[in-house]
Amino acid sequence: MQPLDALKAELERFGADNDAVHEERPRRMLNITRDTGEFLSVLVRATVARRILEIGTSNGYSTLWLAEAARAIGGSVTTVEYAEYKVGLARANFERSGLAAVIDLVHDDAGRLLERTAEGAYDLVFLDSERPEYPGWWPQIRRVLRPGGLLVVDNATSHVEQMAPFVALVEADEAFTTVLVPIGNGEFMAVKQGSQGSE
Ligand SMILES: C[S@@+](CC[C@H](N)C(=O)[O-])C[C@H]1O[C@@H](n2cnc3c(N)ncnc32)[C@H](O)[C@@H]1O
Repeated sequence: MQPLDALKAELERFGADNDAVHEERPRRMLNITRDTGEFLSVLVRATVARRILEIGTSNGYSTLWLAEAARAIGGSVTTVEYAEYKVGLARANFERSGLAAVIDLVHDDAGRLLERTAEGAYDLVFLDSERPEYPGWWPQIRRVLRPGGLLVVDNATSHVEQMAPFVALVEADEAFTTVLVPIGNGEFMAVKQGSQGSE
């Protein structure tokens, strides 16, 4: 097994074992499923998404999938996490993965990072954080996505009620075309109209 595959498998076991014994959300890893990781990997490569923003790093399991695919196409990932404990875990995992050179780990509040991010800065945004925050972040998320850029949001089938206000907001936005993909915990996807370089 390749070292990166071994690390992913180790993190899958760690996440499952850890989340089985910790009830408190700040201590849980709450990682995406393996098939969601595979799906993200295909999306990044198929859309040639070189500039990726991940909101909600945890210990970096999903970041590894995004960064591996980004590196293959000459891209990189910015990932934001506000919990110091998880930033420490993620940093160690990124060093071990050999992918640290294509990962910018930002220790900050996602809302603050979004506010200082340039318009159209990202080809793909992967949103996997505190769901009640999503509607408030939407104006900034839609701004930082380039025309033709793709938003992917986790937990669309596992937490339908919590996701409903955000899904309604995005679906009502005429600049976006949406779909719900029943893979893993459910991926809600929205692509922004236009293409890179167009109006
Ligand atoms: C579901 S977990 C992310 C799991 C990760 N994407 C994975 O699959 O490996 C959500 C993470 O978002 C972080 N988070 C929540 N609110 C945040 C905020 N306002 N800014 C930055 N990070 C935040 C939490 O600390 C938590 O680690």
